[in-house]
Amino acid sequence: MTSSFTDSIQAFDQQLIQLVYRSRSLIEGADYEKLMATCLRNNPKRGITGVLISHSGWFLQVLEGSAANVNSLFKVIENDPRHSDFLLLRFNAVVARDFSDWSMASIEVDEQRFLNIANQALQAEGVAMSAVRDFLCYGKWID
Ligand SMILES: Cc1cc2nc3c(=O)[nH]c(=O)nc-3n(C[C@H](O)[C@H](O)[C@H](O)COP(=O)(O)O)c2cc1C
Repeated sequence: MTSSFTDSIQAFDQQLIQLVYRSRSLIEGADYEKLMATCLRNNPKRGITGVLISHSGWFLQVLEGSAANVNSLFKVIENDPRHSDFLLLRFNAVVARDFSDWSMASIEVDEQRFLNIANQALQAEGVAMSAVRDFLCYGKWID
């Protein structure tokens, strides 16, 4: 009984999660390249995929992976002094990753696109992230 309960509780750790947050960037120029290098070095080891979206000093990051790994990485990221003004927009169980091919993609978008993606993430509309994934695949926005 106890061990099956423990097994069930531990199974939550393995559930595939998509987390989306918004923050204000305190990063400039070359530091951004360093940050991306860190993501690309670390994320494959933790089975994390996602995208870092920027617009005019704001970030919107999507992190995908097991609940345990996403949660522990988010705790680190949240305490990183290179950004501020966090808002968690989405923490959802998902059946599949939107960014399985990207350890951490990086794109810059215009204001309207940034707001749309943030709004759709907040409303847990899966379609928000599939538009971003399609942009990464095809190099253009398919609306
Ligand atoms: C906007 C932002 C996004 C980040 N995303 C990631 C990430 O996807 N993966 C990661 O390992 N670190 C990320 N970091 C960096 C972490 O906060 C932390 O500095 C890093 O994980 C430490 O890695 P290290 O111990 O290998 O130096 C991010 C930081 C910021 C400011």
